[in-house]
Amino acid sequence: MKVLVTGGLGYIGSHTVVELQLAGYDVVIIDNLSNSSTKVLDGITKITGTTPDFQELDLRHQDRVREFFKHHQNIDGIVHFAASKAVGESVEKPLFYYENNVNTLVYVLQELQKLKQQNFIFSSSCTVYGEADMLPVNEDSAVKPAQSPYGNTKQIGEEILKDTCKINPDLKTVALRYFNPIGAHASSNIGELPLGVPQNLVPYITQTAIGLREQLSVFGEDYPTEDGTCIRDYIHVVDVAKAHVVALERLIKKEQGSNFEVFNIGTGKGSSVLEVITSFERVSGQKLNYKIVDRRKGDVVAAFADTSKANSILRWKAEYTLDDAMSDAWKWEQRLRTK
Ligand code: NAD
Ligand code: WQD
Repeated sequence: MKVLVTGGLGYIGSHTVVELQLAGYDVVIIDNLSNSSTKVLDGITKITGTTPDFQELDLRHQDRVREFFKHHQNIDGIVHFAASKAVGESVEKPLFYYENNVNTLVYVLQELQKLKQQNFIFSSSCTVYGEADMLPVNEDSAVKPAQSPYGNTKQIGEEILKDTCKINPDLKTVALRYFNPIGAHASSNIGELPLGVPQNLVPYITQTAIGLREQLSVFGEDYPTEDGTCIRDYIHVVDVAKAHVVALERLIKKEQGSNFEVFNIGTGKGSSVLEVITSFERVSGQKLNYKIVDRRKGDVVAAFADTSKANSILRWKAEYTLDDAMSDAWKWEQRLRTK
């Protein structure tokens, strides 16, 4: 069985390629290397013993997308990660985000609909829930007006899938709403590679601990939570990757109920920023240099998943703990800096 993974050299994509290969799939990756490098292929090969087919291609070029599919008619499923993901940058460059996240999705779906097997997995995000009315959030919780063009591209992406599924019963789609993926492969052969100053908490922590950043700023200690810091559902990236394999298997086996389904991919457990720091200090044996600063604009107080739908329907459950993820993130950071 052949699976196309767009954005397969990126953070979540590369871990998913590994899990797909370990499950016996032949993988072809499309990536334009805008936020990744071909070195990731070596990391994947070290883990699985197999180098995936890689096509350097920018999905914004519709003619090239068409050309690719002309030569790859035998694809049994697509996992579509390719997108840009920096929330702040999306506010500065909205049209780029709509082009890169929405146009590319349309181009891929147009070609997918010409194939015999029309199985599609879309990277969505917990960001669609915004500040939820009730916690944990389940898949029926309201989708709130997006706070950024990036968040909007995820909502629009889901709507595009829903509308297309309505008129095409052969199209089988799943949107996975990831919470906060963190960590790296336990082998330290692949992991997160943030460009420039990380915006996300965990790479900022590990880069501070390794000496690349002076100090972590904790954004706000006056939130209505137990310790005053925000709460998120941090999930090991390998658990996220495995969710794609089971979701795809369900599509390929035609076990899907409706042809557009949504699943939360989280652990079900919320952790505060200070708990993440404590976990890091526990697994690394290091004290982290941090200070409390003002709140960051746009942060929701708390978000964590009700994962019962994925647990029961996909028979998938996150297996790793926060400590596991922080330990793997730290090993990866150390490996990166000693290479
Ligand atoms: P990433 O940036 O590491 O990976 C995305 C990959 O897509 C990169 O390798 C990049 O080079 C490639 N890419 C981007 N635009 C492309 C284009 N036009 N053509 C071909 N390739 C292109 O990001 P990630 O963290 O692995 O995220 C993967 C997906 O999951 C994204 O859709 C993201 O929005 C979504 N997501 C991420 C998170 C998170 O916290 N990391 C959370 C929720 C959802
Ligand atoms: C986590 C917590 C910060 C950095 C982002 C995207 C979202 C989704 C997941 C893609 C928050 C605090 C952070 C720092 C800090 N991605 N923090 N100091 O904001 O939950 O979500 O990634 O879909 O769309 O917005 O993740 O890692 O940025 O922050 O105190 O230097 O850590 O305030 O409470 P977030 P994050």
